[in-house]
Amino acid sequence: MTFKKKMLCIGAGYVGGPTMAMIAHKCPQYKVTVVDINPKRIAQWNSGELPIYEPGLDEIVKATRGVNLFFSTEIEKEIRECHIIFVSVNTPTKTFGAGAGMAADLQYWEKTARQILRNAESDKIIVEKSTLPVKTALAMERILTSGNNNIHFDVLSNPEFLAEGTAIKDLKDPDRVLIGSRRSPEGLRARDELVEIYANWVPSDRILTSNIWSCELSKLVSNAFLAQKISSINAISALCEKADADVTEVSRAVGMDNRLGSRFLNASVGFGGSCFKKDILNLVYLCQYYGLNEVADYWKAVVSINDYQKERFVLNMMNAMFNTLAGKRICLFGFAFKANTGDTRESPAIFISKRLLEERAQLIITDPKALDNAKFDLEGLEGAISYIEDPYEAATGCDAIAVMTEWDVYPKLDFKKIYDSMTKPAFVFDGRNILPHKRLFETGFNVFPVGKPPMTHF
Ligand SMILES: NC(=O)c1ccc[n+]([C@@H]2O[C@H](COP(=O)([O-])OP(=O)(O)OC[C@H]3O[C@@H](n4cnc5c(N)ncnc54)[C@H](O)[C@@H]3O)[C@@H](O)[C@H]2O)c1
Repeated sequence: MTFKKKMLCIGAGYVGGPTMAMIAHKCPQYKVTVVDINPKRIAQWNSGELPIYEPGLDEIVKATRGVNLFFSTEIEKEIRECHIIFVSVNTPTKTFGAGAGMAADLQYWEKTARQILRNAESDKIIVEKSTLPVKTALAMERILTSGNNNIHFDVLSNPEFLAEGTAIKDLKDPDRVLIGSRRSPEGLRARDELVEIYANWVPSDRILTSNIWSCELSKLVSNAFLAQKISSINAISALCEKADADVTEVSRAVGMDNRLGSRFLNASVGFGGSCFKKDILNLVYLCQYYGLNEVADYWKAVVSINDYQKERFVLNMMNAMFNTLAGKRICLFGFAFKANTGDTRESPAIFISKRLLEERAQLIITDPKALDNAKFDLEGLEGAISYIEDPYEAATGCDAIAVMTEWDVYPKLDFKKIYDSMTKPAFVFDGRNILPHKRLFETGFNVFPVGKPPMTHF
């Protein structure tokens, strides 16, 4: 079969895999190849057990794989063959040197750019899918034009707004697709080529085109605003606990204001995920770089409140359980950073596990999708940790349950059965406010929600 276009994505992770699967699904006329330096990841994409869990992903991959969607490790060959190259390699926070702990580590991006330059034999459009600091496209252009090979490269910014857990829905029906380009005739031509791809299924009024720097910045700003909303309600949850107010009532009242909206106003143990913290710190670093220290401090506070909320959760547990956690068996309900994903990157459960182990508690961790990642995250830590998939078995003999992830199976469990199997007095610390608190209290539990008065039997 001959395809109308051949496109490549470098980086087969949480973004590259689902995004390209959706393009292949919606555009049978294109050949889509996804490559990665990690052969194990590629083998998983080619197997019956995909490397990431995402509702709806299996069906799309199964329908397109081997037809017009391919996963491969032959990066150099694919670079030569494809005209459009998406890059969605990881851009974690830098851990060394200048900007350590804040700036984005761009080494994977730069290596990719150099590899493209070495192997390209014809003009290419390079699409930034990774989240990058503003002006990265300029650096990419400089690397790509450093060869003397008469090959022309256009760099576009096309940040990905999908959220893990709803990636397929978000890709199928996005709020908007953002494409930033240079204003030169070549830049606009490249932009139009990318617009044409999305126009296969995204309505034209939702495909926004912009200046390339606004585009790069919009992704960081979008994540910073979302995280800020969570940190705002979490800060208020601490006040509610002192003032006998109920944060759910407050957030409902506030969220019904159309100007604010109700989403991202659920108080919790804190936000996690690979993006929010890293992207805000990246923004903070950019502000500091431009000498905007007040602006940097403002955004830094969003991360500080998140750290505070996680520590506060542990201290509340200790306080409630007679000021010592040593030797107590604590069952963590959930380890993923949110429901419907197995991803545990920056999950609040990691910090909380470490702190509970420091307090010499014993941990029993249960999660429907994230136990393998949890084992990896906690590997080598001192202390007693067990991993049990069945929540009933996990809670048996425990002193407390702490809800870390809002999996919808948890509120539906038989809490009478769980209560009967636990050590008494039995405690529940609901870090997501998803359990039926009154019913649990009536069953015999001492219940500690976030941002609401506790319900105790003493
Ligand atoms: N995860 C999300 O929800 C999300 C959402 C929007 C944007 N983003 C952004 O997208 C980017 C990718 O995120 P992710 O979650 O998919 O990361 P990920 O770690 O899941 O995947 C990145 C992949 O790139 C591969 N890789 C690294 N260097 C490579 C190279 N030189 N050649 C080939 N492959 C290489 C890695 O092996 C890995 O499989 C990041 O910049 C992130 O900020 C992530």
